[in-house]
Amino acid sequence: MQLYARDVGQGTPLVLLHAFPLSSSMWLPQREALSGRFRVITPDLRGFGGSVLGAAEPSVDTMADDVAALLKSKNIPRAVIGGLSMGGYVAMALCRRHPERVRGLVLADTKATADPDAARENRLRMAERLTAEGSVAALTEEVLPKLVGPTTMRQRALVYGRIRGLVQATPPKAAAWAQRAMAGRPDSTETLRSVRVPTLVIVGAEDGITTEADARHMADALPNAELHVIPRSGHLTSIEQPDLFNQSVADFVSAVAKSTV
Ligand code: MLT
Repeated sequence: MQLYARDVGQGTPLVLLHAFPLSSSMWLPQREALSGRFRVITPDLRGFGGSVLGAAEPSVDTMADDVAALLKSKNIPRAVIGGLSMGGYVAMALCRRHPERVRGLVLADTKATADPDAARENRLRMAERLTAEGSVAALTEEVLPKLVGPTTMRQRALVYGRIRGLVQATPPKAAAWAQRAMAGRPDSTETLRSVRVPTLVIVGAEDGITTEADARHMADALPNAELHVIPRSGHLTSIEQPDLFNQSVADFVSAVAKSTV
């Protein structure tokens, strides 16, 4: 199964893995701002955007294997791997299963811990609802309102409208599959302790889904991490505060490129 991926620019490869329930379209501000300096590769995870869902059982490990296969197909031995939220869960699975592929790591608005029982049950309930209704009503009603922070809600209606459009374009089957995959993901704290490459941890100061405490937990577990808290942003830092996000990531990737081959 080959993921669809946008691939722009030249230089150090930077793979950006999207959040739930969005697609690689969310990385437009990063493709525009960063592709002048790096090779920016933004895949659609299976079932989302231009990638087919396939027949595999739901699992973040499968999503990580898809990304490793994409790198192999492009003859890229190692890349800086960035993931936001669900993309971060996939990036951590990649560190567990294919550490040789990871040259540096960006973990944005994500967390290392597995779901508590209530959150897991809620995901499985939502997957049932998505499947039964065959529509994304569960996403627009239950997920969308939590994705952005109060500042974006108040001051940036166009940004919110764009995110709503991306959520509405999500295939319900892909969303149900991904919810089941995320429900089954393991705790990645020990994986992070074993990461040997530099890591940038980013979190929005107004993120209510994955909090600053979650970000600190990851940064504390990682042997070589820096933490950036982005002001006036909720969960989707790359869209809500693209300039600050891009600056952080560009500085980080440049430093990684200088320090490793
Ligand atoms: C995301 O933004 O990818 C989701 O909030 C992840 C999650 O549901 O845990």
